[in-house]
Amino acid sequence: MRVLVTGGAGFIGSHFVKYALQVHPDWHVTNLDKLSYAGNLDNLTDLADPARHQFVKGDIADHELVTRLWSHGVDIVVNFAAETHVDRSILWADDFIKTDVLGAFTLLEAARQFGVNKFIQVSTDEVYGSIASGSFTEESPLNPRNPYSASKAGADRLAYAYFTTHNVPVTITRCSNNFGPNQYPEKFIPLFITNAIEGKPLPLYGDGRNIRDWIYAEDHCAAIDFLITHGKTGETYNIAGGNEVENIEIARAIVRKLGKPESLIQLVKDRPGHDRRYSLDAGKLAALGWRPNRDFPAALDATIDWYVQNESWWRKIKSGEFKKYYAAQYGSRL
Ligand code: NAD
Ligand code: TYD
Repeated sequence: MRVLVTGGAGFIGSHFVKYALQVHPDWHVTNLDKLSYAGNLDNLTDLADPARHQFVKGDIADHELVTRLWSHGVDIVVNFAAETHVDRSILWADDFIKTDVLGAFTLLEAARQFGVNKFIQVSTDEVYGSIASGSFTEESPLNPRNPYSASKAGADRLAYAYFTTHNVPVTITRCSNNFGPNQYPEKFIPLFITNAIEGKPLPLYGDGRNIRDWIYAEDHCAAIDFLITHGKTGETYNIAGGNEVENIEIARAIVRKLGKPESLIQLVKDRPGHDRRYSLDAGKLAALGWRPNRDFPAALDATIDWYVQNESWWRKIKSGEFKKYYAAQYGSRL
């Protein structure tokens, strides 16, 4: 099986590449990744069978390159490649449109022209926007409220349009917030863990009571793999961890586990357009027979341990481009 994984040097994509090589001995994975600030070849050092993995540095919006890759044949596409950080999309939105929308368009066009058996568009629960009570189903209207989620919603619906209009065999996944090893330390959980280790303030937005549903990245990868086989073409599936937690509770769990004072947690000026709560009804996926299997507190503990044991991985990142972003994002807040 010839599998094109895009964004496979990022957080979830690299977990997916590792997972796929391990569970599918007949898969040959081409990993197309631009190596943006978030792409990191250090995420791909422990592959089960490197001979079945080919890394290609390049942009999913590069029509010529994508066409060249397709000339060897592609059976399955899993499109993870994206700009993914909400706070960056508030500061600098252009790459979100270029990659998340135009990049997805370039892959969908190639799939239409040259064919594919399965096209997984990795979307996000953020396309639904915020919900005060209850949970979003796949039928809920989309109401993205920041440039990241709006660009992901564009790609999500474009993928659907390529199914209805051109019969491209698309399946769309909308997953909740991921956490685990190798997550770029601009995101909430790794930022708070690494800042706590460094004895730096943990900048908690607003009143700290926003709610996210958390899923361990490996569970997300297992769900995508399951949907490659069991998901219906043209359908959308929510993927949820079933762990809705207020941010402040997670911040407290991190400082407690690391033996740091709670005074490190500082309430700071809120994110503009900050979605209050995300919540998914994942009944459609459960009806097919899939459920996540990692317990949240244990997986959070294991994640904290990973960052403690892999300081060189995140210190390298935090001493590079990250500094410019951190100054722009937190300079006036902390
Ligand atoms: P990430 O930012 O860690 O990784 C993104 C990867 O895409 C990087 O390796 C980057 O180099 C690559 N990339 C960026 N622009 C590219 C381009 N133009 N061409 C090729 N490669 C490019 O992101 P992540 O957290 O691993 O998210 C992966 C996917 O999962 C995204 O599509 C995201 O929207 C989706 N998702 C993420 C979460 C989450 O909580 N992290 C939840 C649901 C869905
Ligand atoms: P984040 O990891 O950016 O994911 P999301 O895409 O869901 O926004 O943030 C998760 C939650 O943590 C979200 O409610 C915003 C909050 N947050 C903070 O309070 N402080 C921070 O420094 C960051 C990065 C996030």
